[in-house]
Amino acid sequence: MNPSQSPKKYKTRLFLGEGNFSFTAAFLKKHEAKEGLAQFITPTVFESRKELWDKHAKVLHASMPILAKKKNQPCQKNILYNVDARKLHEHPNLKDKRFQRIHFNCPHDGSNTMKSSDLPLMLKNFFQSAKLMQHNGDKIHMALPCEHIKHKREFREGYIYGIFLASANAGYKLISKRKFGSNRYPGYVHTETNTAKPHALSISDELREYVFEKTALSYKDIYKLTPPHLGLVRNKKSKKQAQLICLPKMDTCSDSSDGENSDDSEDDLSLTDTTYLPSVSSSPISMPLTPYFSGLRKIYNNSSSPAKSPSKP
Ligand SMILES: C[S@@+](CC[C@H](N)C(=O)[O-])C[C@H]1O[C@@H](n2cnc3c(N)ncnc32)[C@H](O)[C@@H]1O
Repeated sequence: MNPSQSPKKYKTRLFLGEGNFSFTAAFLKKHEAKEGLAQFITPTVFESRKELWDKHAKVLHASMPILAKKKNQPCQKNILYNVDARKLHEHPNLKDKRFQRIHFNCPHDGSNTMKSSDLPLMLKNFFQSAKLMQHNGDKIHMALPCEHIKHKREFREGYIYGIFLASANAGYKLISKRKFGSNRYPGYVHTETNTAKPHALSISDELREYVFEKTALSYKDIYKLTPPHLGLVRNKKSKKQAQLICLPKMDTCSDSSDGENSDDSEDDLSLTDTTYLPSVSSSPISMPLTPYFSGLRKIYNNSSSPAKSPSKP
């Protein structure tokens, strides 16, 4: 049975870049009392089936039986391999479907993030593709490292991921932030992109799940409604400073701290219609639209005006 044949009970969910399916397994286990939930979940990986087993056999031996459990059969049947998050709208099995929730935990393309990384471009293309599969009010859940040290966090958000630019340019606004990891999802095992390393990284203790809601708003409106945090970074050699456009400052929701709360609200399972009502005043705003970094500037040249160097502190 697929969601179109059964009474609509839960939101349709697409899990991207699952790596070892341990998140899918943990999500199903956590909500095992929710009958029929499995058929609303489509778990996917970027790799082929063979590549996946070559890399992650150990964890897969633990997670796959959970997806294959009798009552979770539909979830196992929904598994898709070779799914590129940048081209969801072109995928023959996905392109005509609406996913009310898309989960992409710790997205990474394996590129060297300190050199010429393709990661911000990948995230940009992912949000642009996702917006073609979702309606206003639908959401993207994305777990990302959230360093305690301020300048490291700013560097990750603004430079390594370019996450505010990627989401806001596609009309997505950050609405909440929760703790993420194996406390909240027992059995979840974080993996790296290029290795079969099955251990959680040290940063995974500091993962946060960011929830973005699709809106009909422009980048400018989102910037105004949920202003990004602006950070600064200085090149050690040239001493030049650059501006980092980071996610808006937001407290971590307290309902996810112990992983025991498995009600609908934390994971947002029940099917309730969300009506999105944009409320933007038309007063003029002044803001930097362009990131300082030339790599990011190239990616976002549509939404930009020449970048101003930030004044020295
Ligand atoms: C750092 S790992 C995280 C894996 C898993 N989601 C987790 O939370 O542990 C990044 C994952 O993104 C996947 N990936 C890389 N490029 C992708 C793309 N274009 N579309 C979808 N997934 C991609 C990789 O195959 C890898 O499994």
